[in-house]
Amino acid sequence: MCGIVGYVGHQEAADILLEGLKKLEYRGYDSAGIAVLQGEAIALRREVGKIRNLEREVLANPAAGTLGIGHTRWATHGRPTAYNAHPHTDCSGKLVVVHNGIIENYLELKNELTESGHSFNSETDTEVIAHLIESYNEGDLLLAVQKTYGRLRGTYACVVLDQRDPDRIVGVKAGNPLIAGLGDGEQFLASDVAAILSYTRDIIYLEDGEIIEVTRDAITVYDPDLRPKNKEVSRIDWNLVAAEKAGYEHFMLKEIHEQPATLTNTLGGRFDDRQGKLFLDELNLSAETLAKFERISIVACGTALYSGYVGKYLLEEFARIPVDADFASEFRYRNPVIDDRTLVIVVSQSGETADTLAAMREAKRRGATTLGIINVKDSAIARECDGVFYIHAGPEIGVASTKAYTAMVAAFVLIALHLGQVRGKLSTVQVGEVLAELKTIPSVISRMLEGADHIQDVAQAFAACRDFLFLGRGVNFPTAMEGALKLKEISYIHAEAYAAGEMKHGPIALIDEHMPVVAVATKSATYDKVLSNIQEVKARNGTVIVVATEGDLNITEYADQIIYVPAVSEALSPLVNVVPLQLLAYHIARLRGCDVDQPRNLAKSVTVE
Ligand code: AGP
Repeated sequence: MCGIVGYVGHQEAADILLEGLKKLEYRGYDSAGIAVLQGEAIALRREVGKIRNLEREVLANPAAGTLGIGHTRWATHGRPTAYNAHPHTDCSGKLVVVHNGIIENYLELKNELTESGHSFNSETDTEVIAHLIESYNEGDLLLAVQKTYGRLRGTYACVVLDQRDPDRIVGVKAGNPLIAGLGDGEQFLASDVAAILSYTRDIIYLEDGEIIEVTRDAITVYDPDLRPKNKEVSRIDWNLVAAEKAGYEHFMLKEIHEQPATLTNTLGGRFDDRQGKLFLDELNLSAETLAKFERISIVACGTALYSGYVGKYLLEEFARIPVDADFASEFRYRNPVIDDRTLVIVVSQSGETADTLAAMREAKRRGATTLGIINVKDSAIARECDGVFYIHAGPEIGVASTKAYTAMVAAFVLIALHLGQVRGKLSTVQVGEVLAELKTIPSVISRMLEGADHIQDVAQAFAACRDFLFLGRGVNFPTAMEGALKLKEISYIHAEAYAAGEMKHGPIALIDEHMPVVAVATKSATYDKVLSNIQEVKARNGTVIVVATEGDLNITEYADQIIYVPAVSEALSPLVNVVPLQLLAYHIARLRGCDVDQPRNLAKSVTVE
């Protein structure tokens, strides 16, 4: 995690660094710092908490100068304190480093450096980078960084500034993102384009193992042997307005309401329902190749994985192919049975989640074909996959993923139909029927959102509870999992999800009047079974909040609270049913006074193991 910004130019570096760090706060927000070359010395400012605290400190204690580096932290090694905040210095205090990622061999290096006389001031792994560069620095910062790179193990990106080498900053990318922005007499470095988009749209994406030197007039990228490389400059065509709140109290609420529009973007141009045709050339997989796969493995983390669980149901239903879905962090270490007859689908909003990236690489190493379902364009995973399905959900800022989830599920619907068609399991008419309904889903969700005020009353009634159980079956079991994840991550209420039929095998022991049960009980093949499960809860004095299909009056007999959703087919119901659960979590968290967009201990992009 963590966010990095670097600036070399003619404007006040502190202003640019602070503005950039605010845009990167989604990557971590437990402490932050900047270092600016002020005359011939380095002005270092570090504060615990969000960027606004650092901003106050810089206002009180200005750091004037036109060259600097900055960092927003999500703690891995060492608590979130001012002395653990970046930038970190070497012994001389003349060299500063910011870093995103983990240095796996930092203890070994720290011992070696301590023995040779270096003294450390923090509990971080980052500080070894500063001391290692110091130990190799014989007057050429670039060379010292290259030698240091050769000693570090792990996945990371870092940027270095040395007051004795006052016209440049140097960076290296080794697994975590680092991009450079080209300006006129000023140049930028950052973890993400959003940090520097107000200044430039011309971006260079670094590859792993590349070392970068940034001066006011030029950006030079080197390979690990310090041979200069020719790098392509990409022009960014989206803007930051898409990443602002547009009058909503929180990004999460805005993003929930954006779902009709994002789904329209995800689906747009990808099918013709009247002809029952899909246009998915971007998968980079011919119909013949797709038809030959014997199994599919879906790997992802968190919400992205839950979309994958829905994908498993859909792929098995429509394409009749065996599918497993697993946590990327488990998959990468469990010796999975995959080979060149396996299609591995990796799902990620950010496209840079460390476990998902590593799982994808492992799958490729074993000969599988990889397909990414990704939101962030040109992200690490997107660039390495054999084929990419971009979900086009736009920037998602709220740490709790909402619009990316429904867009990922929509991607799975299209991919499952496509596979069903090329494998001869679905006729053109069948595909056309599902697509015709899919086309209506954005307006179905709009209608659902217009009538969603009642969810605030439900939230009010349950905001003080300490535990929740979520139940669902079939394709809506993942909906229950996603609902529970949303609630726990932003409201800090303990919430767990179970397949409704599994409840009687253990969790039923938890049921009493203090633990509300949220049941997804929309019309489906297992509707009657879910009703029985709800009755089992009621028989034990449980309180039940039911997500039910509009017009289902029967449910009033069983439910304490009902949230109605429009009727849609079972296969597409996860797209609709999750929306009230997102809203329920949002309103409960808001009523509890939680930081909805930046919940404690989390970060939007998890680039560490
Ligand atoms: C979502 O609400 C979570 N914050 C988290 O589970 C997230 O979905 C997960 O970390 C995966 O992120 P990715 O989609 O960017 O790979």
